[in-house]
Amino acid sequence: MSEDFRNVKVLVVDDEQPILELLCEVLERRGFDVYPASDGEQGIEIFKRENPTVVLTDIKLPRASGIEILKFVKKVSPITQVIMISGYGTTDDVIKALRLGACDYLMKPFNVGILVHTVIRSVERYELIMERISRQETLEKEVRERTAALTNTFHETVKALGLLTEKRDPYTAGHQNRVALLAMGIGRKLGLTPKELDVIQVASLLHDIGKVAVPVELLTKPTKLSLPEAELIKSHPQAGYDIIKDIPFVDSLGKDVSIIVLQHHERLDGSGYPRGLKSEELELESKILSVSDVVEAMSSHRPYRAAMDMESAKAEIAEGSGKIYSPECVDACLLLIEEHKDNNGELFGYLAQYSRRIHENL
Ligand SMILES: [Fe+2]
Repeated sequence: MSEDFRNVKVLVVDDEQPILELLCEVLERRGFDVYPASDGEQGIEIFKRENPTVVLTDIKLPRASGIEILKFVKKVSPITQVIMISGYGTTDDVIKALRLGACDYLMKPFNVGILVHTVIRSVERYELIMERISRQETLEKEVRERTAALTNTFHETVKALGLLTEKRDPYTAGHQNRVALLAMGIGRKLGLTPKELDVIQVASLLHDIGKVAVPVELLTKPTKLSLPEAELIKSHPQAGYDIIKDIPFVDSLGKDVSIIVLQHHERLDGSGYPRGLKSEELELESKILSVSDVVEAMSSHRPYRAAMDMESAKAEIAEGSGKIYSPECVDACLLLIEEHKDNNGELFGYLAQYSRRIHENL
């Protein structure tokens, strides 16, 4: 602990001039940077200006008592050490002061050695508190930095897994990313929180990961698929679920993404796959994902058909609204497209910008 008190400011408040002078002289001789005040208001003014480490104050004072000084100091700076000086008949006030956060007290007449010892002890206590705060801040900073690094690693890993699917099927390059942007846009219209939108993004980026279990010739086949081939492709939600089901998404995102991936081809009326689930059994995120998946897929080129336009995609979801697609999700999607009807080419650019803002807020 430091024995050099040159930079340690001590405010001394006492209305008895000889005592004030004595206190200041003793503490200055010990090396402290001392500030005298002869009444309560002056004491508070000096405190505001100098922010001392220790306040040594008499209890009975003109123009604001020692108790009022103590209350003010503790409100503004809880770690400042306040020592009360108690005269005759102020015992109750000492007890009150200790309850209000005073660290110690001195009874008049006091011994000079005890005075110095009491002040030094309070400085040591202050330094210990500061050290603890500094350690705590360092720890919190480290935790924040590591969390940010882990979050970044997590998102980059998700992106890499998503790219793995698309590498096998060049016709769907960028599909999952655009589905993610659209799904987040819909989620935003539905009032989801940034954390919930993060879930949607991760689920969207991984939704077709199960296609790695489907032979690449089928994914890129330019002619109509046979029934067994179509069944094989339809196995991809289950395969995707099996691949990612053990990733503890709940720990990082608060929700199990694998369920959403499993449900992304389910439909409200039970006509979807793999389980034929109905509306009430489906996660909201799955409903959002199925709408954005269809809209993105229909407005992009596929090996088995030419690219359709956004109008066809809009017609498809409007037609299926309430039957196979959630009407809330369809309405939100149509609204989003409508808002960008004059520059549909910019829709995904706009959504990408929004996605970046979400991550800044997470
Ligand atoms: Fe899919």
